[in-house]
Amino acid sequence: MTRFLVTGASGLLGLNFCVQAASAHEVSGIVNSVSLKNAPFQVIQHNLEDHKVFRSLIDSCKPEVIIHCAAMANIDNCESQPQLAFQINADLPAGIARQSRELGIKLVHISTDAVFDGIKGDYSESDPPNPVGVYTKTKLAGENLVLSENPDALIARVNFYGYSISGSRSLSEFFLKNLRDQKPMMGFTDVRFNPLLVNHLVDLLLEMTACNLKGIYHTLSSETLTKYEFGCRIAKKFNLDQSLIRPISVKQSGLVATRSLNLNLRTDKLRSAIGHELPDQQAGIDELFRLNNAGYAEKIRALRG
Ligand SMILES: NC(=O)c1ccc[n+]([C@@H]2O[C@H](COP(=O)([O-])OP(=O)(O)OC[C@H]3O[C@@H](n4cnc5c(N)ncnc54)[C@H](OP(=O)(O)O)[C@@H]3O)[C@@H](O)[C@H]2O)c1
Repeated sequence: MTRFLVTGASGLLGLNFCVQAASAHEVSGIVNSVSLKNAPFQVIQHNLEDHKVFRSLIDSCKPEVIIHCAAMANIDNCESQPQLAFQINADLPAGIARQSRELGIKLVHISTDAVFDGIKGDYSESDPPNPVGVYTKTKLAGENLVLSENPDALIARVNFYGYSISGSRSLSEFFLKNLRDQKPMMGFTDVRFNPLLVNHLVDLLLEMTACNLKGIYHTLSSETLTKYEFGCRIAKKFNLDQSLIRPISVKQSGLVATRSLNLNLRTDKLRSAIGHELPDQQAGIDELFRLNNAGYAEKIRALRG
């Protein structure tokens, strides 16, 4: 059993991590504006804008591992408030990394697949990043500061979907809601990515922590697909009308914020470190469907305080 302190415990990743890990570990989760009720782990409410308060939380929880998921992850908010984005996505993880090194606590810092510009694709961990927007620039700054403050930290570059507390945080929830409401929606044919089901990501993070991995790892599915194909696979699995998803390119869609298009990232470094294959897209969508039928989406939403 390990003692975990998780930031962003109300977010898509943090909440699923806490719920899943709490069945075998001692877990404390920090939330900010969203409160939780009946959570199967200790909940601490704190704004981490001032990262110095983090020390008192470490002193009271005495974690062996910190999983840092909290972030300003809304691309448009980052574009309109770049200073705050830097504070949350770069200064905060740097402060946490410094404290984790001083106290000898393992740190897992969550970053993003979108540190690359998405022009060449097939990126490995040794390819130079070139982020295209404020959010991704602050996330890359976060990675660099974390590693300079604590070279033993593990940085997971991720992209994931699944069930969130709001019911609307993830791409799978976007497709499922519109498909169930029989509303037409766009599916990008020129955005490629390797998303993981968040529950599979949690399993991998627990495994990577147990293996004491250090440095940067692309923690993603082994299989790349377009956002349009992702939506179609969900429609097919949930027996919903796939023709509601309109195949369209980002350029045609009129979206303004710049996006990296080809985020096909290599995952062989992680596969050889843990010694087994990573989940493919069908495994993720099959499990998304199974969790839905088992009432997991309602269970997550019912935690909202
Ligand atoms: N979703 C994706 O596919 C994706 C893709 C690439 C990378 N990532 C990265 O994965 C990590 C988790 O993302 P997510 O999608 O789970 O995020 P999310 O659902 O947007 O949740 C963000 C979390 O951060 C917390 N937070 C924000 N500002 C805070 C502050 N000042 N003090 C304390 N907590 C604060 C939020 O707390 P409250 O809600 O309580 O305010 C929330 O728990 C992030 O590092 C993100 O950059 C996500």
